[in-house]
Amino acid sequence: ARIRHYKWDVKYEFKSPDCYKKLVITINGRTPGPTILAQQNDTIIVEVTNSLLTENLAIHWHGIRQIGTPWFDGTEGVTQCPILPGDTFTYKFVVDRPGTYMYHAHYGMQREAGLYGSIRVSLPDGQSEPFAYDYDRSIILNDWYHKSTYEQAAGLSSINFTWVGEPQSLLIQGKGRFNCSTPGTDASNCNASNPECSPYSMTVVPGKTYRLRITSVTALSALSFQIEGHNMTVVEADGHYVEPFVVQNLFIYSGETYSVLVRTDQDPSRNYWATTNVVSRNATTPPGLAIFNYYPNHPRRSPPTIPPPGPYWGDVDPRFNQSVRIKARQGFITPPPKFPDRVMLFLNTQNDVNGYRRWSINNVSFNLSHTPYLIALKENMHHTFTQIPPPDGYDFLKLNIYERNPNASGTTTDAVYRLPFDATVDVILQNTNSMVVNNSETHPWHLHGHDFWVLGYGRGKFDPYKDPEKYNLVDPIMKNTVPLHPYSWTAVRFKADNPGVWLFHCHVEAHFFMGMGVVFEEGIDRVGELPSSIMGCGATKQFSKP
Ligand code: C2O
Ligand code: CU
Repeated sequence: ARIRHYKWDVKYEFKSPDCYKKLVITINGRTPGPTILAQQNDTIIVEVTNSLLTENLAIHWHGIRQIGTPWFDGTEGVTQCPILPGDTFTYKFVVDRPGTYMYHAHYGMQREAGLYGSIRVSLPDGQSEPFAYDYDRSIILNDWYHKSTYEQAAGLSSINFTWVGEPQSLLIQGKGRFNCSTPGTDASNCNASNPECSPYSMTVVPGKTYRLRITSVTALSALSFQIEGHNMTVVEADGHYVEPFVVQNLFIYSGETYSVLVRTDQDPSRNYWATTNVVSRNATTPPGLAIFNYYPNHPRRSPPTIPPPGPYWGDVDPRFNQSVRIKARQGFITPPPKFPDRVMLFLNTQNDVNGYRRWSINNVSFNLSHTPYLIALKENMHHTFTQIPPPDGYDFLKLNIYERNPNASGTTTDAVYRLPFDATVDVILQNTNSMVVNNSETHPWHLHGHDFWVLGYGRGKFDPYKDPEKYNLVDPIMKNTVPLHPYSWTAVRFKADNPGVWLFHCHVEAHFFMGMGVVFEEGIDRVGELPSSIMGCGATKQFSKP
């Protein structure tokens, strides 16, 4: 195993990823940031310098479990104090599993300002994947807003609640195209002929098989991705091999990664569209377009066709069915423990808490403590947050998921769930109606520090007596991010075997900002000595060494 050393300078720069100029967070001048390429068991060292001038920073390595290094998870408020402007912070961790992962900012709503990138971990030399391909490429999908994260955050957290609305464009590998003549656009900031926003073009050689590693870091949108005229064979999800299946379009939720195999077997005399569309919301956002360029055609030559329209946004069935199809690959199945030690039911609702619009779990909305939990728990500073744990469930008999939340007031907490070390924990996520009549949203839930088994999905209300009998205990896929579909439930199981403190939250950036998350502590007494570099804020000032 090798050491991969990176030096990153993070700063604000004016960029025009979709032709509209705005302040964007870059790493070494780029967004998306550099792709981390490593082999299994390599050590990654990233020296991050915060050159944002007036803003804190933290970077999360999404999908990397941080076994033995929970303090380098990069979750501000949970595992570390923020990196202050001017400071340099060094992350050091081992990538212990091959697969496709990502990194992104984990402070406030910074991710959507452009701080994100891909992590690709390959097998050690001499080992090979259970599928063959000629080339390996990464594609990262994002949605893009023209307003600053401050404007959005202020709107979400004021009494006159202002929703962030639909994104202005979709980016493929950091490039999109906003129509500068859209009414209300500040024309002086929009330049349709800026080369920065020319579509991303992926050049392929005819007659080969490409492994495309597709990642979504969207702030809000659930997406469909497709390549005109080409089928895709799904082979990996969140770093785990999938029993292969073929799709024309791939549904992907924020925080998920997939590998698909694509055979370049179409007419090589032309280029093809690669497109991404918003699904699950009736969005005004135009599709994101890229060019799938057959060599030796010119990479900028537009395909002669109209881009394929993508699936109807409002159809839940195809999305639900894709989720259900994702199973562990034969020969690579890690069977889950047969029974849980603890079962938690998480009802996802929108609430009005003291006049503020919030998202809640079991009618309790989450606020991060000012002192990172990892430090507070390890150093026994129990006065820094509420010690009464949040609720483990809801009144399932009374629940009508098709009705607006009758319990709309709700409360907030900064408390955490403390799990017995090594316990097998089931979490059932239950979706319901939002504050809007006849509306239920899609929530991609991401667990830090673990991969969980996806035991099942169901439409409607979860029945704690009957539905567990239908769980897939034979070949469930393991993932770190899973969608909760509208008016549906999703059940996952994990082992609380990674000493540390871990966030579990909706990956929609505004939803987590509005309280849609929880924190799990497990095995805190097995956590090694904390590095002083993570300290310095809240009640941890006493621990930081100059
Ligand atoms: Cu990718 Cu806590 O997030
Ligand atoms: Cu959500």
